Amino acid sequence: MVVHLSALIFPLIIIYSAVPGSSLFSWHPTLMALGVSFFMLEGIVIFSKSSSLFPSMARPTKASIHYWLMGLGVSCVIAGLVVIYLNKEQAGKPHFTSWHGLFGVITVGYACAQSTGGAVAKYHKYLGHIIKIRLADLKLYHATSGLLAYLLITVTLLLSLQTSWALSTLHWTLWYACFGCVGVSALVVMIHITTTYVPQASRSS
Ligand code: HEM
Repeated sequence: MVVHLSALIFPLIIIYSAVPGSSLFSWHPTLMALGVSFFMLEGIVIFSKSSSLFPSMARPTKASIHYWLMGLGVSCVIAGLVVIYLNKEQAGKPHFTSWHGLFGVITVGYACAQSTGGAVAKYHKYLGHIIKIRLADLKLYHATSGLLAYLLITVTLLLSLQTSWALSTLHWTLWYACFGCVGVSALVVMIHITTTYVPQASRSS
């Protein structure tokens, strides 16, 4: 259950510190923290046997909640990217020059591709004649590629904690709390995916 605390605490600290609406920039950390650390994280762990808030819920219902949470998460990160892009344009600064910015744009691109893969799996009955991959394999690829997606998210979030904004705005106690939340979330997601799907992937190869 500690993962749900992380899903609340990280966005709350970032939102509290960024004060959304105080500037155009303030929406970047706000939308990113909500998108990845709340919507996407909850959208993944809903499937976890040990961490789901609804362990006995039917799988199709969990899948529907997953689509909605991921849709909200991807919408937030796209909006967060647009905001920081416009903010840098206004300031006349070059784009994607920091490690955080570079990993960030790769992460958003990968999250969009990952979601497209999920949509193809959901609508496989309509798309199956175009995409010649078995549904079971497609689901397996989607889940295992989610591991790389979450790794990218984790690296981007850790790098975000090294930006001058985070280092100058977050009180050190809040900084360590954020660091802990990112670590706990990564651990739970990676253990969930590796224990649930990687054994299947090695069996099918
Ligand atoms: C996974 C979530 C995140 C993604 C994908 C992401 C993405 C990005 C991208 C692509 C840029 C560069 C934009 C450009 O150069 O035009 C950027 C900049 C920035 N982000 Fe994030 N961000 C995330 C989370 C955060 C969080 C949580 C914070 C605050 C703690 C933050 C703080 C900043 C700051 C201060 C900049 C401007 C400095 C720089 O370019 O490195 N970001 N972000």
